[in-house]
Amino acid sequence: QIYGDSRINSRGININVMSQCLPLYEQVHRFFNHSWLAGPIINGELIQQGEVMRVHAPFDRVIHVGSTYLADQSIAEQAVSIAHHAFVGWNTTPVEKRAAMLDKSADLLEEHRSELIALCHLEAGKTLQDAIDEVREAVDFCRYYAHQARHNFAAALQLDGPTGESNELYLQGKGVFVCISPWNFPLAIFAGQIMAALVAGNTVIAKPAEQTSLIAARAVELFHQAGISGKVLQLVPGLGSQVGPVLTSDERIAGVAFTGSTETAQRINRSLAARNGAIATLVAETGGQNAMIVDSTALPEQVIKDVVASAFTSAGQRCSALRVLFLQEDVADNMLQLLKGAMAELKVGNPCELDTDVGPVIDEAARHSLLKHIDHMRETATLIAEGQLPLNVTSGHFVAPVAFEIQRMNQLSKEHFGPILHIIRYPASKLDGVIEQINQSGYGLTLGIHSRNETTSRTIDSRVRVGNVYINRNQIGAVVGVQPFGGLGLSGTGPKAGGPHYLLRFATERTRTTNT
Ligand code: SER
Repeated sequence: QIYGDSRINSRGININVMSQCLPLYEQVHRFFNHSWLAGPIINGELIQQGEVMRVHAPFDRVIHVGSTYLADQSIAEQAVSIAHHAFVGWNTTPVEKRAAMLDKSADLLEEHRSELIALCHLEAGKTLQDAIDEVREAVDFCRYYAHQARHNFAAALQLDGPTGESNELYLQGKGVFVCISPWNFPLAIFAGQIMAALVAGNTVIAKPAEQTSLIAARAVELFHQAGISGKVLQLVPGLGSQVGPVLTSDERIAGVAFTGSTETAQRINRSLAARNGAIATLVAETGGQNAMIVDSTALPEQVIKDVVASAFTSAGQRCSALRVLFLQEDVADNMLQLLKGAMAELKVGNPCELDTDVGPVIDEAARHSLLKHIDHMRETATLIAEGQLPLNVTSGHFVAPVAFEIQRMNQLSKEHFGPILHIIRYPASKLDGVIEQINQSGYGLTLGIHSRNETTSRTIDSRVRVGNVYINRNQIGAVVGVQPFGGLGLSGTGPKAGGPHYLLRFATERTRTTNT
C-alpha cells in the first residue's frame, strides 16, 4: 500500500482523517514540550560546533522548538570528500539491499509518525492535515522508489546479439548527488530526493532549507538507523548562500536535485556549468504561476470548494497552489459571491488546533514579502475578499487569505508564495487569449480546468503547456505513484517526482558486450 491514507480525494472528502485524528493527536501532543537539536551529520557524527540558529515556531515566536548548528564551508568540503570516497562501495551494493534500506526507512518514519507530525507543526507551522499528509508522502516516496529500483535496476536488460556476442544494458549511480530541499515539504521532498538518489546508487549530501533543519536531522537519524551508512548519506544544514556555492562548484559532484525557487535553480545551473570536468545533472522542481480556468458550464459549489483548497491549503505555500483564477464573465459575479462566503469561513490560526484551515507562513521574511505584494494589489487591483487574522496569537507569521481582481496575468511579475489569489474575468470569445496569457508566463506547473464541456476541457488541456492538469477537482496534493508531479519551462526540468521515470535521471546507463 503506497497511496496516502489521509488525502483529500477528488470529491474533496477527507479520507480517514477525522476518525483517526483524536487518538493520533494525543500522541502528537506528547512531543509539544520536546526540544530538538540539529547540526551537520558528517560520517555519521552530529557536529555540535559553529554558529547556532535558534528555532522558533512560525505560529508563536515564544515557543522554542530547538537549535541547529549551521555547517560552514569546510564542513561542506569534508562532506564532499567522504561522499566521493564512499561512492564505489555503495554503487556496487546489490540493488535489493539498497531497496530494503528504503523500505526500512519507511517503516521507521511510520513508527515515529507522532514525533514527525509534532515537528511539522512546530518547526514548519503545518496544520494537522498537512502534517499527516507530509509523513505519509515521505513514506510513499521511500516505498515507491524502492519498488521502482527493484523493477529497473536489479537485472540488466538482455539485448539482441546478432554476431553471437551477449549484449546487456544496465543502470548505475552517477556519483555524489547534492539534494537541496525546501521548507514547504520538509520531510516529503527531503526524503523523496534523497531516496531516489540513493537507491539509484549515488552517495548523497543533503542540504535542507535552513528553516526546517530539525525535521531533516531527525529524518537522517532514522535513515541511518535503517542501515544507510553515515558516509553514504550526510546532512549539511546551513545557509544556502554559504554552503550552496561550495557544493555546486565542486567538480566531484555528479548531480544536484533541487526544489525551490526558479532563481535559485538558475543560479545552481550556472554554477554547475561553470565548473571544469564532467557535465553535471540538474533535476530542478521550481515555482509556478498556476492558473485555473472556469467556464460557464462548471458547477459553482464544486468550483469554489476546489478554488479555496487549491489557493489556501498550506497557506498557499505549495508550488502547485492556484495563483490566478480565470472566470468566464457571465458566471463571475455569482462565483465571487460564493467565494466571499467561503473565505469568510476559513479559520486562520494556530496549526495545532484541529479546526484550523490556514496556518502561518514560514517566517517573517515571507510574511513581509507577501504583505508588500498585498499592499501593491490594494493600490492597483480590486479587493474581492479577505479572511480574518487570528485574534489570540500575537507573535506568529500570519497572512490572512486574500483575493484580488486584476486585468491581466502579466500584472504579476513573479510567483507570490502564500495565500493570495488573483482573479481575471474573461469573455467566452477570448478563451484563446487566456491560454496565451498562461503560456506567456513561462511557468508550466499545474493547471486547473472546471468545465462540463469536454470539448472545452480538451482544447485547454491540449494547448496549455504545464506538467500537471487537474480537471473538475482541486489542483494540489499530487499522490506518489498516482499523479507524478513536476513542471516545465520556468517550473523545472523534470522528470516527475513520484513517477516511473524519476530514478532514471539519477542513473547512468551502461552497455556491456561480451564475446562469448
Ligand atoms: N507535490 C505538491 C502538490 O502536489 C507540491 O509540491 O501539492
